[in-house]
Amino acid sequence: MTTASLSDTFAIGGDLTVHRLGYGAMQLPGPGVWGEPADRDGALAVLRAAVEQGVDLIDTADSYGPLVSEQLIAEALHPYPEGLVVATKAGLTRQGPGIWTPVGRPAYLRQQVELSLRHLRVERIDLIQLHRIDPDVPLADQLGAFRELQEEGKVRHIGVSEVSVAELEAAREIVDVVSVQNLYNLTNRQSQDVLDHATEHGIAFIPWFPIATGDLAAPDSPVADIARELDATPAQVALAWLLQKSPVVLPIPGTKSVDHLTENMGAARLSLSPEDVARLDALA
Ligand SMILES: NC(=O)c1ccc[n+]([C@@H]2O[C@H](COP(=O)([O-])OP(=O)(O)OC[C@H]3O[C@@H](n4cnc5c(N)ncnc54)[C@H](OP(=O)(O)O)[C@@H]3O)[C@@H](O)[C@H]2O)c1
Repeated sequence: MTTASLSDTFAIGGDLTVHRLGYGAMQLPGPGVWGEPADRDGALAVLRAAVEQGVDLIDTADSYGPLVSEQLIAEALHPYPEGLVVATKAGLTRQGPGIWTPVGRPAYLRQQVELSLRHLRVERIDLIQLHRIDPDVPLADQLGAFRELQEEGKVRHIGVSEVSVAELEAAREIVDVVSVQNLYNLTNRQSQDVLDHATEHGIAFIPWFPIATGDLAAPDSPVADIARELDATPAQVALAWLLQKSPVVLPIPGTKSVDHLTENMGAARLSLSPEDVARLDALA
């Protein structure tokens, strides 16, 4: 059995069943998530290795590159293996490396979904996530654009990203929200209330920065001691902690390295005792 498939499963929206340990494809484009990767073959190899290791949830966005991450996914993996869920996002525009600006005008969101369909080479997007709420556009118009695309069969499920509980509740009044993607990891739990809300309502919670952009994987990681005791790596401990947190949590660690990917997927083998969890919980 491949490693990621040792993690248990969650049915996103009730019908997209994935193993809970996935892969985030934001690290694949160039520096600042801008432009082509320095090592294009290496990026393609990471994507293929993820699927070989049992990953069946890949997270990306139109704005990663922009376009580059989606194009790499299609080049590496199309035609997609049955059961592979590629979740993408729209709603952030790019003005250069490291710059992200929300735009939620319905015509723009529709254009980006049409482009994602083309770049991912699919007829329907499994999960489209509103990358950020644009404060200058009514939320009903932003999510309404996705609902129209859903009614047209171009989008299967709708999710949101970086929202408060109040925003999540408002979004759920407009569309059926099946996932929420917020910053959350062992040392940053500011979205704990959103995770609790997602758990209560059976909504997938996709924590971004699951290993704190690498800080939790570093030799001086706050989990380094516990990792040594468990004969695991710090990254594996950080991911295993997320997996035990709630059955709706779907971590999507990002990397441009096959070695790091393989290490991270090994988190699915690690089981934490209640004592380990209590010590890790106390590290917040
Ligand atoms: N919704 C949003 O607004 C939002 C925002 C940010 C991210 N995301 C999503 O969340 C995913 C995960 O976030 P992320 O990739 O930014 O952060 P992350 O998964 O917390 O960390 C990735 C960073 O850690 C390093 N790393 C990964 N595994 C490692 C290991 N085993 N040992 C040492 N270093 C390791 C990577 O470098 P190497 O490449 O060298 O391994 C990379 O720099 C993204 O890919 C994206 O899909 C969403």
